Amino acid sequence: MQPTTKKTYGFQTQCLHAGDHRNQSGHVSPPISLSTAFVFPDTTEGARRAADIEADEFYGRWGSTNAREFEALIAGLEGADDAVCASSGLGIISMVAHAFLNPGDHFVGVHACYSETKILLESLAKQLSLDATFIQSDRIENFEQAIRPDTKLVFAETPANPTLSLVDIEGVARIVREKSDAAFAVDSTFASPYNQNPLALGADIVIHSATKYIGGHSDVVAGVCAARKPLAHQVRDKFSFHGPHLDPFSSWLLCRGIRTLGLRIRQQNENALELAHYLESHPKVNRVYYPMLESHPQHTLARRQMRGGGGMICFEIQGGMEASLRFISTMQLSKLAVSLGGVSSTITHPSSMTHNLLPREEREKAGITDGMLRFSVGIEEVDDLKEDLEEAFRKI
Ligand SMILES: Cc1ncc(COP(=O)(O)O)c(C=O)c1O
Repeated sequence: MQPTTKKTYGFQTQCLHAGDHRNQSGHVSPPISLSTAFVFPDTTEGARRAADIEADEFYGRWGSTNAREFEALIAGLEGADDAVCASSGLGIISMVAHAFLNPGDHFVGVHACYSETKILLESLAKQLSLDATFIQSDRIENFEQAIRPDTKLVFAETPANPTLSLVDIEGVARIVREKSDAAFAVDSTFASPYNQNPLALGADIVIHSATKYIGGHSDVVAGVCAARKPLAHQVRDKFSFHGPHLDPFSSWLLCRGIRTLGLRIRQQNENALELAHYLESHPKVNRVYYPMLESHPQHTLARRQMRGGGGMICFEIQGGMEASLRFISTMQLSKLAVSLGGVSSTITHPSSMTHNLLPREEREKAGITDGMLRFSVGIEEVDDLKEDLEEAFRKI
């Protein structure tokens, strides 16, 4: 599937130009505007901006010129009317949840997602006395059973961190429409806007931890969601009063990162596919999870809703946790680190590092085993990455 956007330009062109209308400065590289307050031409205009949460230049917590440019770029890449950014991925997930859920509401969430997203949503469910149903998201029947006429928000993550299990976005969107007037939000962080456009498949809100592929250089923490105007407005309305605004410099870094998003993701798709095949054929590997491998249980779905498999690979090697930890400790080029989506390859052990805050039974529900490794493939030469893996295999 080609990424669908409202403009006729191709993806990489949009990465460069989708925010042009927000940059009126005449600079090819937009300046960073640090001002937190803006001069009103007259009192009428001051009052107008004060009454309009969308106003561009009113007060720094409501947004900045740089944040608005970042939002315009994301809206363009996701085929949305508008986008709202925040100071982290979790921050924007929290804002989306607060925007659509009130005390006592019914909410559907998933087991297979980033650990801290699950912790956030579970704690919010307690705090707001939500009627929350968490389900196994790789089976569409589970959404069919869980979604009710009074459901207000359905949240899913696809591909899931770290197992790369998928959610059938089109199928779930259809069920949501048929059974409720809930908002359907999809965390598409692992795919990036290059590989998947959930709104074009029927979702209402797409969410990204922009810390990952969108920033792409492991130097900024941010989050963003994109949607049709009324839904984005509902999030912005909450957001501005809760206050997790994204500062101008981080917004500028994200715009700069996006300039090469298409190029980076193409390379990461290519590298990861080749390494997934290499790992799958390695005698010391038990299992590889990668959407574009035919062995992935949802491979047909991956081909239907994703343009490429992305840069994330999950795999299990022989020897369980002990061998896995030894393996990642010996890697040289790919660094032992959490986070993902950067230009440099990183590797981590989910059960003791990224998903360690979840109790074992919760990790099991998310499909995470002790021997699993999560590899974020960068843009290095693929032969060098392969050699790095080969060397680590030799040492265990
Ligand atoms: C899929 C996914 N969503 C959300 C988040 C949270 O993003 P952030 O760390 O920017 O708050 C992460 C972080 O790893 C993630 O992997």
